[in-house]
Amino acid sequence: MKIADFELERFFAKYEFTAPYLLCSSDPESFSLEELLSFEPGSIDAFKKQWLGYTETQGSLKLRNEITKTYKNIMPENILVHSGAEEGIFIFMNVALEKGDHVIVQFPAYQSLYEVASAIGCEVTKWTLKEKDNWELDIDFLKKNIRKDTKAIILNLPHNPTGYLPSKNKLEEIIKIARENNIIIFSDEVYRFLEYNESDRLPAICDLYENGVSVGGMSKAFALPGLRICWSATKNKEILNKMAAFKDYTTICSSAPSEFLSIIALKHKEKIFKRNLEIIKTNLKTLDDFFKRYKDTFNFQAPKAGTIAFPSIKLETDIEKFCIDLIEKKGVFLLPSTKYDFGNKNFRVGFGRKNMPQCLKKFEEYLNESHSKRVILSGSKSIK
Ligand SMILES: Cc1ncc(COP(=O)(O)O)c(C=O)c1O
Repeated sequence: MKIADFELERFFAKYEFTAPYLLCSSDPESFSLEELLSFEPGSIDAFKKQWLGYTETQGSLKLRNEITKTYKNIMPENILVHSGAEEGIFIFMNVALEKGDHVIVQFPAYQSLYEVASAIGCEVTKWTLKEKDNWELDIDFLKKNIRKDTKAIILNLPHNPTGYLPSKNKLEEIIKIARENNIIIFSDEVYRFLEYNESDRLPAICDLYENGVSVGGMSKAFALPGLRICWSATKNKEILNKMAAFKDYTTICSSAPSEFLSIIALKHKEKIFKRNLEIIKTNLKTLDDFFKRYKDTFNFQAPKAGTIAFPSIKLETDIEKFCIDLIEKKGVFLLPSTKYDFGNKNFRVGFGRKNMPQCLKKFEEYLNESHSKRVILSGSKSIK
């Protein structure tokens, strides 16, 4: 398979471990191994005794049992564990889609959610969210773009990069359309459980729809991306079996120590979500105040869930130039919308990390210095 570079990941590869002030991370503040083990009495000794052989392809039963508790009506046999959500996306598309199939993808998107389909030879229709519409999904657009050969609708809820979350009614409308047209819904739900109001949490697609595939995992809501444990959950046994067979050509099985640690995280999920949401909500308040101070410079809509938002710049500058200048001058890393192939005005800002206020301070320093010089970048309007 020939596949285009993953623009966002290439950009991260350049700056994630060199820029001192990461202000666009999508994973919340992580935990040390010691912190995680402290949640479960006796786990240090048990971890030392962990056998390091191969594990079951579908994931250990103990792990899958814990995963089922994040859903309503899902059994261990409805779950396939894999190495990161990325592997789930890659495998799902490889088994469910064929060259010539039509897919509709919520856009902007984490690139693999459309790029893998494109590389397979699918025709991709971008279901584009608009900032002026509060990033709302437009159901009429979906209805107009369904075709006889539409095979899948690809969603990411809560959404990267906007933090958008539809109402349950809207999700049910999407499912109704999919059901009537025999279309699979693939829903990347790695940010689920990071809703600021629990009442906004959507049921997982695998619980609502017999042809729905949910992807969840350790990387975002659980703040443990280094474990590389995620999973797909679906009642569609045919898809799940094909995915398990395809996994023989990717990772075969997951890492045993990571499975062990993921079980602890799942057992203590409420504590983990609470701690993550405390950091996120405190930071979001700081961020909201910041954007109020700079309302002449940026458009900002506070999201409903997750660790990231997607504001835009009101100045005449290109955001990519702006972000690169900001990294070079202050070491603050923001992610321009060019890395989402979504114009040159928006940027991703992250607020799940403890040092976010320090990063924001540096960003503000940059804005004020540019302001005192009356210019952000040559050719752009000054900030008022
Ligand atoms: C929406 C979405 N899906 C998938 C991934 C990849 O997750 P993982 O690190 O578990 O492979 C990311 C990572 O940023 C993401 O934001």
